[in-house]
Amino acid sequence: MSITLDQYRQWLAERHSVRAFTSELVDPALIQDIFTAAQQAPSNCNSQPWRVWLVRGEACERLRQQLVTAVSQGEIYPQDFTSVENFSGLYRERQIDCARALYDAMGIERADKPARLEAMLRNYAFFDAPHVVFIGMNKAFGYNNALDVGIYVQALVLAMHAAGVGACVQGALAHHAPLVRRFLNMPEDVGLLTGISFGYPAQKPANAARTTRAALAEIVTVIE
Ligand SMILES: Cc1cc2nc3c(=O)[nH]c(=O)nc-3n(C[C@H](O)[C@H](O)[C@H](O)COP(=O)(O)O)c2cc1C
Repeated sequence: MSITLDQYRQWLAERHSVRAFTSELVDPALIQDIFTAAQQAPSNCNSQPWRVWLVRGEACERLRQQLVTAVSQGEIYPQDFTSVENFSGLYRERQIDCARALYDAMGIERADKPARLEAMLRNYAFFDAPHVVFIGMNKAFGYNNALDVGIYVQALVLAMHAAGVGACVQGALAHHAPLVRRFLNMPEDVGLLTGISFGYPAQKPANAARTTRAALAEIVTVIE
């Protein structure tokens, strides 16, 4: 079985983050197939350092409520792994472009701080998705292992895309690690890296947002 590079490129470009979901559940057998497919992700020494918690049904509702309540009350928890949230220069420009794409699609003015805050809070409601998956790795691991987990995350999101299931990778869901850890009963030696809300896309303005990518010349240096 093979696909052409052109087909692959087009298929990759079709995927986009989904930030509004219907309440329709993804069939458990399809979820099983999606996660089985993602297990093919390569990793350093085949160590497969990703740890995965799938939350659905009534548990998903309870966690959604707990997170929204905590974040609305301004509770800030430390993250398990250090991360750079304040981009500068070129990276800041791309961050602004990405936020603008979302807010424009949602009809939110840049100056409308309450509406932007509301949109940000949707992260913690899992954008109404009926399922969310949390992904972590051993706290003692380093960047090389996090790279493996990133490759797994991409494999998972693309497996969802192939199955017609929408998803949004959410670094925001790692911002409340102690609450999530308690809820999931995660072992203390495992750190939370990210969460991914997933389900069937709803016909909502947020899902019309599209992002662009930098030109190759900005990214790739050719040495010959
Ligand atoms: C590691 C990672 C963390 C992300 N965190 C968030 C997040 O917390 N909230 C959100 O709405 N989108 C989040 N995104 C989605 C990105 O904004 C999105 O992938 C990017 O703007 C490109 O858009 P696209 O996915 O539609 O192609 C994240 C994506 C990645 C890969």
